[in-house]
Amino acid sequence: MSVEKLKPMNATIVKFYPLTATEELWDGFLRGTDEHNREADPEEPLLPREKRKALMVSAEANPDRRVYRFLIFPEGDIREAAGCATVSVETPHSPSYGTNKHVGTLLLLFISQKHRGKGLGALLLKRVIEELAAKEPAVSEFLSPVILEPGERFMNRRGGTVSLETAENRLYLSDLDWVTVEAWAAGSARRNPATTVMTVSSIPREDLEDYSAAYTETINQQPLGDVSIAIKYTPEQIRFDEQKNLEQGLAETTIYTRESDGKVSGLTETLYLKEAGHRITQMMTGVREAYRGCGLGKLVKARMLLHIRKEYPGVKYIVTSNAESNASMQAINRQLGFKKHLSVKLYKLKI
Ligand SMILES: CC(C)(COP(=O)(O)OP(=O)(O)OC[C@H]1O[C@@H](n2cnc3c(N)ncnc32)[C@H](O)[C@@H]1OP(=O)(O)O)[C@@H](O)C(=O)NCCC(=O)NCCS
Repeated sequence: MSVEKLKPMNATIVKFYPLTATEELWDGFLRGTDEHNREADPEEPLLPREKRKALMVSAEANPDRRVYRFLIFPEGDIREAAGCATVSVETPHSPSYGTNKHVGTLLLLFISQKHRGKGLGALLLKRVIEELAAKEPAVSEFLSPVILEPGERFMNRRGGTVSLETAENRLYLSDLDWVTVEAWAAGSARRNPATTVMTVSSIPREDLEDYSAAYTETINQQPLGDVSIAIKYTPEQIRFDEQKNLEQGLAETTIYTRESDGKVSGLTETLYLKEAGHRITQMMTGVREAYRGCGLGKLVKARMLLHIRKEYPGVKYIVTSNAESNASMQAINRQLGFKKHLSVKLYKLKI
């Protein structure tokens, strides 16, 4: 742990390392993220602290990302943190380091309500920028998902611009018309008789290469506004994530389609954590360009819903994040009944 007094009368900023942090520092960090999450989404239950600690510790093992975390304490009082910050960068080990090394993802920059308006956020941001200038000189901009209005004002005042308007969308299963879902699954299967639908928790070895190619192709075709990154999802990363999810107790389901020539045409994936068993998160959905407009997007989404109904009866809603400008994904989601739950603006801040 390194403790540095930037302005002794104003604040103390401490770097936070999950692998070696004391209980007091854990408490400060988790209280900061709890407060942020409660302010952003007051009804959403928080994950048990021990589970969150375990998730953060295990995430440290990812060779493709390096995470820097900070706590800020007011007036040299290092008992109660006033806020925290987390920024993540790709490491040279990452296959997309070449295209993404200029970007730091500022996942969180948070000051407690009672400590706002005293310049602590600006101090904390300055410290984060100094750290990256020293340790990650390739980083020239932050991308930061902002939910709270004070966060938007903070970014606007510093010349931040909105790169992408996104939203967390939710589909409550109690509102879902299962007849439509069953009709989509059956209708799309009739329209695509040569297509095989696979439901797996680990991508089979024979499809791994092409699944990785289909994923990489489609994820980079989603509208990204003026975000300048390119994503590569290699077979090695797929296996790494599968192993990590197993260790973390995250149940992963992938539903993908394969054509008669062996090509992977479409895919969707979800993650379920029993400690947050009221919800399930749907991540990437993609259909390769050559196969679009034939109902495969609807097919994989419908089949996933039927899978969730059967395997996870405790789930109350599906949560997914989409760009507001993603017309085709929004069209499918709206027809199913997904509704916007939270607006999330992805800010770019040049540093
Ligand atoms: C989103 C995506 C998966 C859809 O795949 P698809 O196989 O073409 O989907 P389907 O054929 O099953 O259905 C597409 C629906 O969207 C509608 N749609 C397509 N483009 C649209 C547009 N520009 N505006 C409005 N609706 C549109 C279609 O009309 C169709 O609905 P309908 O059957 O009621 O007419 C595909 O476009 C894709 O892979 N995009 C890139 C990756 C991406 O952005 N993924 C989402 C991020 S999570």
